[in-house]
Amino acid sequence: MGWRWHLPGVEKKRHESETLDGWEEGMKKNILCIGAGYVGGPTMAVIADRCPEYRVQVADINEARIRAWQSGEPPIYEPGLKEVLARSLNRNLFFTTNADQAIEEADIIFVSVNTPTKTFGEGAGLAADLQHWERTARQIKARARSPKIVVEKSTVPVRTAEAMDYILNAGGGVHFEVLSNPEFLAEGTAIRDLMEPDRVLIGGRDTAEGKAAVQSLVEVYAHWVPRERILTMDVWSSELSKLASNAFLAQRISSINALSGLCEITGADVRDVATAVGMDRRIGPHFLNAGVGFGGSCFQKDLLNLVYLCEGHGLHNEAEYWRQVVRMNEHQRHRFVRGMLAHMFNTVVGKRIAIFGFAFKANTGDTRESPTIHICRQLVEERAQVVVHDPQALDNARSDLSDLGDAVIFEPDPYRAAEGAHAIALLTAWNLYAQLDYRRIYERMIQPACLFDGRNQLDAEALFRIGFNVYAIGRTPRTH
Ligand code: UDX
Ligand code: ADP
Repeated sequence: MGWRWHLPGVEKKRHESETLDGWEEGMKKNILCIGAGYVGGPTMAVIADRCPEYRVQVADINEARIRAWQSGEPPIYEPGLKEVLARSLNRNLFFTTNADQAIEEADIIFVSVNTPTKTFGEGAGLAADLQHWERTARQIKARARSPKIVVEKSTVPVRTAEAMDYILNAGGGVHFEVLSNPEFLAEGTAIRDLMEPDRVLIGGRDTAEGKAAVQSLVEVYAHWVPRERILTMDVWSSELSKLASNAFLAQRISSINALSGLCEITGADVRDVATAVGMDRRIGPHFLNAGVGFGGSCFQKDLLNLVYLCEGHGLHNEAEYWRQVVRMNEHQRHRFVRGMLAHMFNTVVGKRIAIFGFAFKANTGDTRESPTIHICRQLVEERAQVVVHDPQALDNARSDLSDLGDAVIFEPDPYRAAEGAHAIALLTAWNLYAQLDYRRIYERMIQPACLFDGRNQLDAEALFRIGFNVYAIGRTPRTH
């Protein structure tokens, strides 16, 4: 693992934070997070680990999830999480379904409930569905007996904090200070991202109460994050920065994917192009891997949010600009399936196709917006027999494709998945797939055996020598 527990300067930071204004040794803070999902769970586990003098509670309405957290076996797969959890669980980290009581006790309340794209009514398919957010705000308002800092942790559209402020402080009573503190963790590397963040962003109002609340949250992160990496700004800028960061990252992926088709036709290698482009210091090497497109709960949702915001403000060209990043992403996975068809004599009817990887990326069991979902559905529409393998995401895959019946088989053994198959499509870059015995796999497949590498993860030349026809994204096909 690349990250370290004992980060340089952590001990020093902790000492420094003990001398901050208003901070006295032994004094405790009560932190609550509502929502124990991919963001809330790992974030609170790290805060509890790094701030042993704080009492951290995490509440969720989903009892099964809470029971799993309480048992020390997190309900989500995330490398390193179990170990961090074990250090604080039932010491200063507690999980509960009783949010009401936890609200009364808390000084700082993070809200980390799900905010999927709306599927109904105004803004359907574009805007964020804020029903869970609003319900949570109303619950906080109903239960709080003393002033609270409420921290927006879910990805929400710009100006949500303003709406929260309005709901929470309507009709007087105790005062709530709303902060924006967007999460930048990526799944699969969540613990490292939380332990060593590029930056922590805190948005608050430019008033005495706002500044004090911001300072209070800065103190939490300063336990382990160097001060120069903690940025404070106004709430709207903070909210927009989160959407903008994800939009920029997604745009890079769509840009390299937009070049991959041209590489395949002209004989260029998209990996070489990405390396050359990325070595320009102004561009940088990250997020330039061509593939079957981005998935996950954030990129598409945030882009669509941005589109909706731009449109709402009459900025139609800007909306169109960002919408194109999503369109390119959809196009890439269609193009991948069209390529599979073309290379398999324009029909996959009755052909067994092994899908290697269902999670939206490696090292997570999360399948939200995974490109594999769309690719499997398209293959089933073409009447293929699809066999899905994934080391962590088979349960989610079963539920994502539950309506497809016998057309999809879920297979926990990659060798068995490929047995009798006409083709393998590698769609998630799990390390495991690079380590399989492809000679053994090849010998048990129908010939000609095709391998479609949707993540450029395998050694195409070696596979070709074994006998496969190899089609990798953004590279010239190698066929016999
Ligand atoms: C993303 C952001 O990185 C994170 O900062 C934010 O808080 C949440 O959204 P996440 O969705 O967990 O994180 O994963 P990320 O590593 O960003 O990958 C997103 C998708 O892009 C995956 O499907 C991945 O396979 C794809 N991707 C990524 C590429 O296709 N090519 C790349 O070069 C990088
Ligand atoms: P994210 O990736 O943003 O963390 P998840 O869907 O993984 O999203 O987690 C969100 C969590 O919020 C879920 O476990 C869900 O049960 C929880 N949740 C939603 N609404 C409420 C609510 N009103 N009170 C408590 N928890 C909630």
